[in-house]
Amino acid sequence: MTPNLLPGATAAPLDRGSLLACLGGFPNDARTLPAQAYTSEAVFAWETTHFFEGSWMCVGRASMVAKPGDQVALRIGREGVLLTRDRDGRLHALSNVCRHRGHELVTCPGTAHGKVIRCPYHRWTYDLDGTFKGGPGLASQAGFDKRDPEHSLVALRIEQWGGFVFVNVSGDAPPLRDYLGTLPALMQPYEPERLFVGASHSYDIAANWKVVVENYHECYHCSEIHPELCRVSAPGSGLDYEPSGLVIGGSMELLPGAETMSLDGTSLGVPFRNLTGSALREVYYLQVFPNLLVSIHPDYVMTHMIEPLAPDRSRIECSWLFPPEARLREGFDPSYAARFWDITNREDWAACESVQRGVAGRGYRQAPFSHSELVVHQEMALVARGYLQGRVPDPVPVPEDRRAPSWHPHVAAGG
Ligand code: FES
Ligand SMILES: [Fe+2]
Repeated sequence: MTPNLLPGATAAPLDRGSLLACLGGFPNDARTLPAQAYTSEAVFAWETTHFFEGSWMCVGRASMVAKPGDQVALRIGREGVLLTRDRDGRLHALSNVCRHRGHELVTCPGTAHGKVIRCPYHRWTYDLDGTFKGGPGLASQAGFDKRDPEHSLVALRIEQWGGFVFVNVSGDAPPLRDYLGTLPALMQPYEPERLFVGASHSYDIAANWKVVVENYHECYHCSEIHPELCRVSAPGSGLDYEPSGLVIGGSMELLPGAETMSLDGTSLGVPFRNLTGSALREVYYLQVFPNLLVSIHPDYVMTHMIEPLAPDRSRIECSWLFPPEARLREGFDPSYAARFWDITNREDWAACESVQRGVAGRGYRQAPFSHSELVVHQEMALVARGYLQGRVPDPVPVPEDRRAPSWHPHVAAGG
């Protein structure tokens, strides 16, 4: 079905014909995205409003605001966001903008800790849930009503799943549950809410966020650029994930003899305690549109959280999460996972930056796909549909029985 512009929406500033070409039959008739999707400031500004501010963006783990009084300032698109943990342990996402004259409450990016949120400009203060408390001289100021909710910080939508925190700046995205599709059921045996961050790396790369995502969704390039990966997992193995919610991706199998993805295939952690059978041999690579990549291994979960900075610049926070039992293992050292993926990440970033230089040149054309790039096509079609409709496409609904913990992911042959 041809996606039409939704009432009141604004389509992305791209040629309609070139976007419709992305929706052709896979693999030969469909085409990759046009160059401007990766290079245009106007497209990036449109994406900022409609994809990043208009959807559920993952901002990290709840453990980064672990204790009451913890405050973390971060950015989603143009929006300053302040995460706080209040005295009752509740998490809040507030606009990081003082209700007095607009100073940032906590320098972004940055952290603070205190019983209140205090603006560094004229010292207006707020409770950790954003309620206005007072400011110098205001208590005695005739006619100033400190209980007026007008003075309180603007609250943003926040939801959590599995220890991950998501914020929807625009306030009108469908519930997070709809975005996640069958992912919570798939991850249920991994108990994602229990995991701790064993290692993390931040990368600044000179490539569009979609180049990073598209590269993640195929292993067609693996035998060319990932010698380490090919020693522990076969590029052609695995299955594609049946898209649900706004989650797409696929799986790959470990080679015989490899316990996990590491340089020598051995694990210095412990397998997730509920895993049995084939789940111990499988690695899932899944994206929650737009900015969270979740790579699920038998003994750790790796996440890439992408912060799009400009058409040709992205910051990527890569974290390695482990079950608490891993800490009890003698010799546990998260670097067996982090080192392997740091090497592989850098191989990927070099390829992504090369693609970015390529799409910025005159020689780039929209091209057909290889049959092993189905998920890349799914990603581009999702993006193209969003561009044409004027907002993030509706999540693929999940039948109730597939939300049950007993449900096993449906995968289709391919990959
Ligand atoms: S801008 Fe915050 S107290 Fe004045
Ligand atoms: Fe790769």
